[in-house]
Amino acid sequence: MSWAKWLPLRADLQKLSPYGAPQVRATATLNTNENPYPPSPQLQSAITDAVQETVGTLNRYPDRDATQLRAALAGYINEASKTHLTANNLWAANGSNEIIQSLFLAFGGQSAVGFIPSYSMHPLIAKVAGTSWINGGRNLDFTFNLDMAIAQINLHKPVLTFITTPNNPTGDSIALSDIEVLAKTVGLHGGLLIVDEAYAEFSSQESAVTLIDAHPHLMLIRTMSKAFAFAGARVGYLIADPLVIDSMMLVRLPYHLSAITQAIAVVALDHRTELLNNVKTLIQAREGLVKALNTLGLTTLPSEANFILFTGFSATSPELWGQLLEKGILIRDVGLSSYLRVTVGTEAENKAFIKALTELL
Ligand SMILES: Cc1ncc(COP(=O)(O)O)c(C=O)c1O
Repeated sequence: MSWAKWLPLRADLQKLSPYGAPQVRATATLNTNENPYPPSPQLQSAITDAVQETVGTLNRYPDRDATQLRAALAGYINEASKTHLTANNLWAANGSNEIIQSLFLAFGGQSAVGFIPSYSMHPLIAKVAGTSWINGGRNLDFTFNLDMAIAQINLHKPVLTFITTPNNPTGDSIALSDIEVLAKTVGLHGGLLIVDEAYAEFSSQESAVTLIDAHPHLMLIRTMSKAFAFAGARVGYLIADPLVIDSMMLVRLPYHLSAITQAIAVVALDHRTELLNNVKTLIQAREGLVKALNTLGLTTLPSEANFILFTGFSATSPELWGQLLEKGILIRDVGLSSYLRVTVGTEAENKAFIKALTELL
């Protein structure tokens, strides 16, 4: 992108491109790892009631500290992971992207390491926050390489080390024992380990939340966008030692999370049984989709998330992506040559995707 000479945009930003999955209409929208199930009529009506109750107070600023929401999030995590977290271990923001940004505002400035291919916003937010980004690399088959990661951390001694488990776009998880080794390694250099668990609910692996007590410099990023089907509401959260949470209060904007967002997120958490049942359906559908892709002769990377990265087609990734779009199927070209990523959708969407793909291969 070229910028007008009169615009005093920071020199280090001029080379960057904005994040953006194409926003085009499609019959099956399987490109941004959203949950395909809209809120049920019961949940919609509970959300509407919560909004109704809140609108009468919109002349006032919201609870700056989102106390009720943070307590509800702690309750959810404690139930899932048998932990004893309190609201003081939780921070909530407008999507986990805002959490990532806040982490860079609080702890960035020097360097950060991540293991690419992984979530593209980690390096982008790092650069926007003036933090140099180092790619620690992965194996050629994109699996995580613990020894390589340790060597990179010891070499660069970054303040922030990012891992994503399950990883986007590859779908693989990092073993809890490896995460503990990484926590110890970053600790040797006074760094922080950020574990992005955006897709944790889709994984059979235990959450790294149980490691926080022993390793206060390890923290987790989670989101309600995926398992809770709440992408449009924008709710992400950080789980960490209370001292880390205190530092979030330094960098947050006052009243950053609207009263409506806080109220409806609590309602969605109250409906977790219903929402997490849909996660079970999506996990089953993922396995069905893997089988169907393999039957077509394609290779899939093992996924513990709500998406699958696949390869083995003869067209280029942009070509196949475009041909699928012409048939109304929107998936994601993540910029990895010969690979495409598809999000698990409803049964009808998955069928339409496989039908279109069968016609094209
Ligand atoms: C690994 C990972 N982290 C964070 C996010 C951001 O999620 P949100 O800002 O919707 O909470 C995403 C979104 O796709 C993701 O894949």
